[in-house]
Amino acid sequence: MPSEAVAKEGRLSTGWGSVDMTVTVLVTGGAGYIGSHVCKALAEAGKKPVCYDTLEKGHEWAVQWGPLERGDIGDKARLDEVFALYKPRAVIHLAGYIEVGESVQQPERYLHNNVTKSCALIAAAVRHHIEAFVFSSTCAVYGLPQMDLLTEAHPIAPLSPYAESKAKVEEALAEAAGRGLRSAALRYFNAAGADPSGAIGEAHDPESHLMPLAIDAALGLGSPLTLLGTDYPTPDGSCVRDFVHVNDLADAHVRAIGWLARNSGHNAFNLGSGTGYSVRQVIDETARVTGRAVPYSVGARRPGDSPKLVGEIAKSKRELGWTPTHNLTTQIEDALRWRRKMPR
Ligand SMILES: NC(=O)c1ccc[n+]([C@@H]2O[C@H](COP(=O)([O-])OP(=O)(O)OC[C@H]3O[C@@H](n4cnc5c(N)ncnc54)[C@H](O)[C@@H]3O)[C@@H](O)[C@H]2O)c1
Repeated sequence: MPSEAVAKEGRLSTGWGSVDMTVTVLVTGGAGYIGSHVCKALAEAGKKPVCYDTLEKGHEWAVQWGPLERGDIGDKARLDEVFALYKPRAVIHLAGYIEVGESVQQPERYLHNNVTKSCALIAAAVRHHIEAFVFSSTCAVYGLPQMDLLTEAHPIAPLSPYAESKAKVEEALAEAAGRGLRSAALRYFNAAGADPSGAIGEAHDPESHLMPLAIDAALGLGSPLTLLGTDYPTPDGSCVRDFVHVNDLADAHVRAIGWLARNSGHNAFNLGSGTGYSVRQVIDETARVTGRAVPYSVGARRPGDSPKLVGEIAKSKRELGWTPTHNLTTQIEDALRWRRKMPR
């Protein structure tokens, strides 16, 4: 549809429903890795992202597609101020602490930041009549897999305080559906890659994710990698994981807002690629893409790690009209480009 028609009508008919092009979306954690890619995807879909972030872990340079409002998701007065100022119709909630290991050391800190404060945000969303609430959850809510490909119907059995915090927020959203809040919990598998522009990417401190650590090891920027466990019941003995490109994740968030315009209640969706790669395969592919060996040592298994976590994504494909389009090689290429450009 020509842009004048959009401006006149204020609405655009797309493959996934009639969407108000003037929608403002509050993105909590929008200065972080995944949140910044979500803000870019929203802007490209014609929506207005407003980033709400403490910047405790995020970066001001990552906020490029809309205003930055510094604030804590647990701060009721600040939330009311920002909701009143921008009048968002949707919330995408990515803010939170993300380290599984740290959550085992400091469970109260994780439950406070990720659960208590999320409940304050959910209450604000109800108060301000938010029409769609999209939440960053994780495949870790499933715990030890009881099936080969994890479906959304798998029992919820978190093994760490981090995963438990996500399961509790999902419960709070299911409860808030009774007060009229429509929500979708997006259960990410392993986010990877970066925007191909090289403008934004993963910049965690400390970094604990495999792909950036493998790239840093190959480039000589970080310590050698430690391969945690080589005696798992998998083809090469290392853990098998499901990697999904961050721009595919971002696209799913935009689609989830459209889906919630047509569906009420609370729902959960897996966001993975549907294909598993072992840690050794990721190391080998990183070496091939970078043209350098990835130095690594072999360590012991990490308690609580599942041999294999791969998602069944049929529901997300069917309901959201979503298909991940970036393979492992593209994820590594994009992450490498970002690693060479990222602010240090
Ligand atoms: N990275 C992954 O592979 C992955 C996998 C599954 C789920 N997730 C979830 O996705 C979300 C985003 O992950 P990420 O990798 O982009 O993390 P990130 O640390 O890069 O981003 C999180 C952002 O939230 C902000 N934040 C934290 N607590 C806040 C608070 N109380 N109020 C306001 N802002 C706050 C931080 O400053 C940061 O900018 C998280 O909720 C995480 O649990 C990530």
